[in-house]
Amino acid sequence: MSTATLTGTTLLTAAQNKLGYESFSIGKFTFERDEYFAHIIYPGNRHIMPIEAFLRALMRDVAWGFFYGTVNFDNVFGTINHYGTVEMYIGLNNFAYRNSHREYVETFQSKDLKKFFESILANWTNEGFDPFAAPEETGEAYGPKRGDNLQAIQRERLAAKRFLGLPGDLKLRGDAEGQPVNRQFTDVSQEKPELHPEQGFESEVHAVNLFAYLSRSDVTWNPSVVSVVHDSLLCPTTEEHILPIIHGNDRVEWFVQLSDEIIWDVEDKMTGAPVCKVTMKAGDVSAMPADIRHRGYSPRRSMLLVWENNDGTLPQRYASGEFKPYPVEF
Ligand SMILES: [Fe+2]
Repeated sequence: MSTATLTGTTLLTAAQNKLGYESFSIGKFTFERDEYFAHIIYPGNRHIMPIEAFLRALMRDVAWGFFYGTVNFDNVFGTINHYGTVEMYIGLNNFAYRNSHREYVETFQSKDLKKFFESILANWTNEGFDPFAAPEETGEAYGPKRGDNLQAIQRERLAAKRFLGLPGDLKLRGDAEGQPVNRQFTDVSQEKPELHPEQGFESEVHAVNLFAYLSRSDVTWNPSVVSVVHDSLLCPTTEEHILPIIHGNDRVEWFVQLSDEIIWDVEDKMTGAPVCKVTMKAGDVSAMPADIRHRGYSPRRSMLLVWENNDGTLPQRYASGEFKPYPVEF
């Protein structure tokens, strides 16, 4: 296959390969796919990832806008968010690559790389495969190019003006749209909270059953922001199977396990050396430190509340040592 050679952040796509997939180049990186694998070609070498794992990770990186800190697609390839620009790297957070000076990094404007990733996702996601869905709830990513699934990968994030269900605002999922309760959440109560607003405040006061709301989520590992108070973002999410990325924190991140169980592998952020395993059962709370990377395993669909601090000064303050990487000294 011939691939266009490009410089800077210009985006071009080469001709389709014989399987029907386009290849994509940005900077000195080129991305190609075949039936089973994504090939990431960079000066001097090539990294390879299973296509399903690559698309699931790519979907999160796009949907989360590169998220906080580092999104490791695996132990070699990933992105680091600098909030305006993004580093895309090979081996930057891998002890063996760093030790033998085999890492490779380029910096892009966030909006350019996001657009670039969206193009790959659109072309490489086949009909019937939803990278947001749990493996048991979606078709296969493999094989020659077969249609697309733009509906799944271009989900729009909905934002309430004041509160879900208030007059004139978004309707609660499941009330009007008829989004079904997930197959693994049929035991979740769908009861509505009782409301007793004072006279005159009927259109100001509202409440929803968050468990019922989450039981109808059709995506996994995709936090929804449900409240914003200054820099405090409460982001509940439903999880099943494996977190598709290994997240490297650039600040402390709090987890509240709302239902079922998630097992976390926690590693050193820079080297990937194992630090600990954390098993979180319903009701458990943890503060994931600012200097780790982690990947969660959810054997059943579960509900997790992620509490993020959106203060833009934090990455630098943790990196400089002004703050300890953990929130509490016992
Ligand atoms: Fe994290």
